[in-house]
Amino acid sequence: MTLLISNANQVITLNSNNQNARTGKEMSELNIIENGSVLIEENRIVAVGSKEELQNQFSELVAQAEVIDATGKVVMPGLVDAHTHLVFGGTRENEFQMRLNGATYMEIMNAGGGIHATTKKTREASFDHLYEKSYEHLNDFLKYGITTVEAKSGYGLDWETEEKQLLVAKKLQENHVIDVVSTFMGAHAIPAEYKENPDAYVDLVINEMIPKVAERKLAEFNDVFCEKGVFTPEQSRKILLAGKEHGLTPKIHADEIEPYEGAELAAEVGAISAEHLLVASDQGIGDMARSGTVAVLLPGTAFFLKAASARGRLMVDEGVPVAISTDFNPGSSPTISLPFIMNLACMNMGMTMEEVLTATTINAAYAINRGHEIGTLEAGKKADVLILNVANYQQMQYFYGMNHTQTVIKNGVVVVD
Ligand code: NIG
Ligand code: FE
Repeated sequence: MTLLISNANQVITLNSNNQNARTGKEMSELNIIENGSVLIEENRIVAVGSKEELQNQFSELVAQAEVIDATGKVVMPGLVDAHTHLVFGGTRENEFQMRLNGATYMEIMNAGGGIHATTKKTREASFDHLYEKSYEHLNDFLKYGITTVEAKSGYGLDWETEEKQLLVAKKLQENHVIDVVSTFMGAHAIPAEYKENPDAYVDLVINEMIPKVAERKLAEFNDVFCEKGVFTPEQSRKILLAGKEHGLTPKIHADEIEPYEGAELAAEVGAISAEHLLVASDQGIGDMARSGTVAVLLPGTAFFLKAASARGRLMVDEGVPVAISTDFNPGSSPTISLPFIMNLACMNMGMTMEEVLTATTINAAYAINRGHEIGTLEAGKKADVLILNVANYQQMQYFYGMNHTQTVIKNGVVVVD
């Protein structure tokens, strides 16, 4: 199958010679081709350029290509959501009402709600139920232009249910057109059964769960909720290093609610990313810039918890590679709308529209170790391409709270039109 997306107003390639996540001024370099076209063969991008250039260089391929006219539209790489809790049982709209009445996220969690409430529902749910529900969520992601989704476990907090969540994610990766990248997050909360002896749960994660996840290749990453009242920095360090020994790359939920030196820990253990970072310290931000740890910022979570957002502007200026994701989960961010979250990044973190596009494509790809495969429109990369029904990329965020995705091409196939 050969496809030619022809004559777009703007093709946002995001190409650069840099083979790493983008930092600083590079985050503003979108590398736009006006009146551009994209040639796709099978599941790969062959070339990006003007229609004439492509016709001259690839005359045979262009002659046989199915043409999609993108006149007046914007073409860009598929969006990458590098942080979700995709597979979960139940919903928590009751807690939303409690928070609107003044309760805090941590109060609700400490009273047995929050992650504990979803854990109960996820333990009770059948594999098939979780699979079908998550499949539908992925359909929604796809309609909004998201072509790759990271998915964390962490609503089992026992092996049986953690395994169930990871197997659901695996089956989704096999069957759904979206690429699902798996993260083990057994250390998402201390389960109620271990309330009096949290270190015993840490031992269980380290000695039993992590080895099984690694041996059965059920995840690539290992994540911990490092937060006052959840896992301490010492416990988090142990869990992340244990994962590393088994080949699981560290990720960390860091400095979300109270400063806890999570960003510093991320840099210290060589985490690929640190997420949330609402209250990360200056020291932690400096450490992450030096270690090249991607900051996965989640302004939708700050919005939904009525908290001040992470210091995204400062992080970009200090040279931290920044990505932006939804944090899709039933408690702190029940939305799949990455485009809306992109708008929040502009409004509440002082990031520019250009930086936000980088943060949701190539930098998000690097946050899940896919920077070589996706996140830009360049020859050889996977053909994950969007056609947006807007005249220029600024309109994507200016017309906010709307879905501008017209066509989604995933692995070289039109899957939304
Ligand atoms: O990333 N902060 C911890 N974990 C999730 C929320 C999980 C939940 O509330 O169910 C987060 O915000
Ligand atoms: Fe999260």
